Amino acid sequence: MTPQKPRILTGDTPTGRLHLGHWVGSVENRVALQDEYDCSFLIANMHAFTTRADKPGEIRESTIEIVKDWLACGIDPERSNIVLQSEIPAIVELSWYFAMLIPFNRVMRNPTLKTEIDAKGLGDHYSFGFPLYAVGQCADILVFRPELVPVGEDQVAHIEMTREVARKFNQVYCNVDPQTEDADSVSAGGLFPIPVAKVGRIARLPGTDGVHKMSKSLGNAIYLTDTPKQVKKKMGQIFTGRQTMDEPGDITNSLFQYVRAFIKDESRVKELEQAYSKGDNIGDGHIKVEVAAAISELLAPIQERRARFEGKGGDDLIVDVIREGIRKSNPVAEETLELAKQAMKLDFAPRTISFS
Ligand code: TRP
Repeated sequence: MTPQKPRILTGDTPTGRLHLGHWVGSVENRVALQDEYDCSFLIANMHAFTTRADKPGEIRESTIEIVKDWLACGIDPERSNIVLQSEIPAIVELSWYFAMLIPFNRVMRNPTLKTEIDAKGLGDHYSFGFPLYAVGQCADILVFRPELVPVGEDQVAHIEMTREVARKFNQVYCNVDPQTEDADSVSAGGLFPIPVAKVGRIARLPGTDGVHKMSKSLGNAIYLTDTPKQVKKKMGQIFTGRQTMDEPGDITNSLFQYVRAFIKDESRVKELEQAYSKGDNIGDGHIKVEVAAAISELLAPIQERRARFEGKGGDDLIVDVIREGIRKSNPVAEETLELAKQAMKLDFAPRTISFS
């Protein structure tokens, strides 16, 4: 089962529909990489339980919605693997072993966990499973032995931890010399490649509040399913603090981050930047309308593809895609687990798993 193409693994926690921040941060990259790489896209539905254990119905719904969004964006289940985390038992098993390779305090220092604890107001009453998800994420990734992990900037800390776990496993159980370069890890006998994070072209898209990162929980998101009217209205809310049209504008403000993210014509972007920074009689309102139109142009084909899954029977089509993904991805995951257990001298009883 040697892969012909280098592998990619990435994923999303199902928290609701996807927004533009997901698109520019990661999803756009995934769609583009499908030909060159053997791609697996994971729905981290177990992670959703770390903060919403009492909402299984919502999590199931979000799971289906996210797959609709992926397919709408152009992720092609014929070429790529759709991986439902909760149905890949190898992930859970590896998480347990990986938890022993990383100090507890190292996990608790993970800056992404800290940011999440603050942003979600988890205080000191989060579940035991909450910090554990960071170890689980190492297993999500390594079970597919990928070279590349396309993610938003906020996930880089998790990928760093994953790299540490992979190095440690290779050293402890595969006798890889600690001095070995990351790129040589596998040729030196390691089971796991040391995966590299690939951040999308816009690392952090501000939300329509113009301040915080775009996020569902902050209510500042433009969704991939928003109509042109909704997009226009939300764009109108972006606050720049600029008073008049002849006031020189700051082209590093949130509005211009949208200009650069969504207006495709480079020369038009330059023109707008020049006029705005000079205070050349160009109003924020005008620019917002232009950006809104560009966004809706980007979203039109996505929404057209999504329509197929929105009617009656749409959810069933998605469940079929998820099932097929479970069948396709488990053999790879099981192979990794078997190799890991061999390395750990735990190869007592080889097994295969099957689905009805
Ligand atoms: N933690 C990621 C997020 O919230 C989702 C995720 C889970 C993930 N497992 C992953 C991302 C593995 C990349 C690779 O967006």
